[in-house]
Amino acid sequence: MLIDTYGRPVTNLRVSLTPRCNLRCIYCHAEGESSPRKELPTDQLVEILRVAKRLEIRKVKFTGGEPLLRPDVCDIIAAVPEGLESSMTTNGTLLADIAADLKAAGLSRVNISLDSLDRERYRRITGRDRLDEVLAGVEASLDAGLTPVKLNMVLLQGMNEDEVDQFLEYIRRKKGLMLQLIELMEFNDCSLHGDIGRIEERLAQHADQVITRRMHHRKKYCMDGAEVEVVRPLHNTEFCAYCNRLRVTSDGKLKPCLLRSDNLVDIRNKSGAELEALFAEAVQKRVPYFQ
Ligand code: 5AD
Ligand code: SF4
Repeated sequence: MLIDTYGRPVTNLRVSLTPRCNLRCIYCHAEGESSPRKELPTDQLVEILRVAKRLEIRKVKFTGGEPLLRPDVCDIIAAVPEGLESSMTTNGTLLADIAADLKAAGLSRVNISLDSLDRERYRRITGRDRLDEVLAGVEASLDAGLTPVKLNMVLLQGMNEDEVDQFLEYIRRKKGLMLQLIELMEFNDCSLHGDIGRIEERLAQHADQVITRRMHHRKKYCMDGAEVEVVRPLHNTEFCAYCNRLRVTSDGKLKPCLLRSDNLVDIRNKSGAELEALFAEAVQKRVPYFQ
């Protein structure tokens, strides 16, 4: 088991399959990758997953860019060792045709980035007119049983702040859907930071039940049939306290913290015991960003 010097066990791996994306979201942080080089080939990803399982990592999340741009995505998922739960964060544009195959390959569920249910707003936020494809992707994921399907909505001032109620209505209509309301992290100073505190207060007032998850100190509000999780990376001193994640960048580096780029560990072309040792080294470099 991997445990860092702050006593935090690392049980969770986020693997970026590609830096490429078919959207251009105005706020995109591209998983904290600055100048990504070549993508890891299938066999190296498979080896990383094997080692992760040996080190008692329990969950792996595939991310991007947009992970579904990889033609070998189903092969990668099929190679996830038994006992390691896999999920994916996708923008959903390519999901409709592949959801059933992902499930068959062993994927347990998906997070779908969806910041607006309004076509024109969606286009303004993502730079592309692809809302209908995403909505078809949501349906296909529910049908395929990739549940709970979590919709990731990044709160954007003046762009979607007023849409939370529409989202609640939308998730109530379909069993298996949940909402994750995410506070914007501004990497490129786009001044779109909305008032998530105010929205959270309103959710709290209407909630039948509030659950606080240890991971990232997230609160989950349950209100007649709708579940909303609020993710606030900023102004949250507990954010890092129970963080159990390690990231793999698309060009083959272990990244101990999303918010830092000065402590990466190169694992390109490594395998077996050597790769295990590099995992341990990266975990030793984990320092809470907010403490
Ligand atoms: N702030 C907050 N969340 C972000 N995401 C991407 N960029 C940002 C940002 N600047 C989230 C989106 C997307 C997921 C991959 O990462 O919710 O769904
Ligand atoms: Fe970035 Fe994700 Fe939007 Fe693609 S879908 S541009 S990776 S935030």
